[in-house]
Amino acid sequence: MPDSARPLTFDDAVHSRRTHKVFGRAAVPRETLDELFELARWAPNHHLTQPWRFRVVGPRALAALKAATDDGGVKLERAPTLIVASVVRQTDPVADQEDLCAAACACYIVLAAAHVRGLAGYWRTPAVLRTEAGLEAVGVPAGERVLGLLHLGPPARDARPPERLPVSTFAEYLE
Ligand SMILES: Cc1cc2nc3c(=O)[nH]c(=O)nc-3n(C[C@H](O)[C@H](O)[C@H](O)COP(=O)(O)O)c2cc1C
Repeated sequence: MPDSARPLTFDDAVHSRRTHKVFGRAAVPRETLDELFELARWAPNHHLTQPWRFRVVGPRALAALKAATDDGGVKLERAPTLIVASVVRQTDPVADQEDLCAAACACYIVLAAAHVRGLAGYWRTPAVLRTEAGLEAVGVPAGERVLGLLHLGPPARDARPPERLPVSTFAEYLE
């Protein structure tokens, strides 16, 4: 959890944001969610297509989503605030891939900005959002592709930071 006395630098925020799977019960206030979405608007995107879509799951949508799962949707109760993140599909494959990347950047902005505000986050790709019933439950139309279900809420315990590969394994300097 960030030290609220000092604003996190960008580097701090990138290093300290971690996936949380246990949350407190208080829902994220709408004003805070609006701040996160305002920041997501500034994700890079080619041709300014602004292809990301976020749907905050309300009680009725949550009930419908749970009903669409095989197991009653127990895992959907983990976090008090759930956001369905999706991208508008493009018929051109290059533009489609670009927009997928742009929407993923927007998702990361939401998670990182939530973290900076002391909230816990979790990007999950539940199977129910790969079913017709699940998509219908949360109003994702045929022309969109789901990127995940962003879980947000107060952190309930420290998240374990998974180790990462060293830079030398994935970055190289070409002649
Ligand atoms: C596109 C995407 C989908 C993910 N889907 C899942 C998921 O379905 N279940 C899960 O446990 N974690 C999921 N994660 C979270 C990753 O497992 C997590 O980011 C990874 O373990 C690294 O941990 P960190 O976020 O603390 O750095 C997903 C992450 C991304 C970016």
